[in-house]
Amino acid sequence: MARIAVVAGDGIGTEVVAQARKVLDAVLPGVEATEYDLGAARYNRTGEVLPDSVLAELAGHDAILLGAVGDPSVPPGVLERGLLLRLRFAFDQYVNLRPSRLWPGTASPLAGVKAGEIDLVVVREGTEGLYTGAGGSLHRDTPAEVATEESLNTRHGVERVIRDAFARAERRERRKVTLVHKTNVLTHSGSLWARAFQAVAAEHPDVTTEYQHVDAAAMFLVTQPQRYDVVVTDNLFGDILTDIAAAVSGGIGLAASGCINPERAYPSMFEPVHGSAPDIAGKGVADPAAAVLSAGLLLDHLGHPEAAHRVSEAVAAELAARVPGAPLRTEEVGDRLAAHAAG
Ligand code: NAI
Ligand code: MG
Repeated sequence: MARIAVVAGDGIGTEVVAQARKVLDAVLPGVEATEYDLGAARYNRTGEVLPDSVLAELAGHDAILLGAVGDPSVPPGVLERGLLLRLRFAFDQYVNLRPSRLWPGTASPLAGVKAGEIDLVVVREGTEGLYTGAGGSLHRDTPAEVATEESLNTRHGVERVIRDAFARAERRERRKVTLVHKTNVLTHSGSLWARAFQAVAAEHPDVTTEYQHVDAAAMFLVTQPQRYDVVVTDNLFGDILTDIAAAVSGGIGLAASGCINPERAYPSMFEPVHGSAPDIAGKGVADPAAAVLSAGLLLDHLGHPEAAHRVSEAVAAELAARVPGAPLRTEEVGDRLAAHAAG
C-alpha cells in the first residue's frame, strides 16, 4: 500500500489538506499517511526549516502531499528556498506539472471561452534555470552594489524535461507540444532548448510542435488559451505562465500541481499552487478543490489512474453544482467530494 508523507503546513494549508486526505481515504482505503510538522509554525517555534533527519524520512515515502507553507512573520525566502526548493532539488523533482482546465460550472474572466475549451498542461522545468541560487552580490548596501542571478541550463536537464512533455503529449488526444522560451534574446540557453526540443521532436513524428516566445505566450494564454495542449518551458517562464493559466481557468482555488521525479528514484510532491492565505486562514472558507486535484495527480503518479479519475469526476460534479459567488465551507466541500469519489 502507498506510503504518503503529509506536510499540511500553515494557514489554509492544514484546512485544505484535511479535505484532500478524506478524498484519498475514500478512493484508496488503507493508504498510509504520516504527518510532518514543517512550515512557518515550526520555524517560529524551533528555528528549524527542514532538518536533515526529516529529509531522510521523507525520502522513504512514495509521495508527499503538501498544503502550503508561509506566514508574514517569516522573512521571505526562508521557507521557499529552505523547504520547497530544497525538496525539489534534493528529490530531483525536475518536472513541475501544472494542469489547467476550465471545468463546467466555473467562470473564466475571459468572455469568449466556454467550459471545456481550456485543457492544457504546463511542464515547467523544476531544478535549473534561474532557481538554482547561482549568483552573488558585492558591495551590498553601497551605491556600487552588484547582484547577479545566473540561469543554469544543462543539456541533460533540458532534454529530460522535454522528453517528459512529449511522453505526456503522446498520452493526450491532441498530441501537441509548445516550446516556450525567449530564444531571440536569451540566445545561449535558448539555442540549447531549441536544439534539444528539435532532437526530441524528431523521435515523435506523431506529435505536433510549435515554438513561441514567452511574451507572445503570455498574450495567447489570455486571448486564445484553447490553442495549448502541452507547454514545456524553463523554470521562471513556467512559474509566471502558470499563474496566468490558473487565472483564466477558474483561479487559484482550483490550480493543482505536482513536483515530479519521473524516474521514481525519489518521492514526488503534490500541492495546490496557492499559498497559506493568511487573510482567510482559520475561517473554514478556503476552496479545497486545488488540494484535492493535487491528490488526484498524486494518485495518477502512483499508478492509480482509476482512483485519480474518480477524484476528477467528484471535482467536476462539485464545480458544476456551484452557484457562482456563493460562499463555501471547506469541510462541507471536502465531505461532498469524498462521498462522491467513494462512489
Ligand atoms: P496565497 O495563494 O496564499 O493567497 C492569495 C489570495 O488568494 C488570497 O486573497 C487568498 O485568500 C486567496 N486564496 C488562495 N488560496 C485560496 C483557496 N484555496 N480558496 C480561496 N481563496 C484562496 O498567496 P499570498 O497571499 O501571496 O501568500 C501567502 C503566504 O503563502 C505567503 O507566506 C507565501 O510565501 C506563501 N506561499 C506558499 C506557497 C507554497 O507553500 N507552495 C505558494 C505561494 C505562497
Ligand atoms: Mg508561483
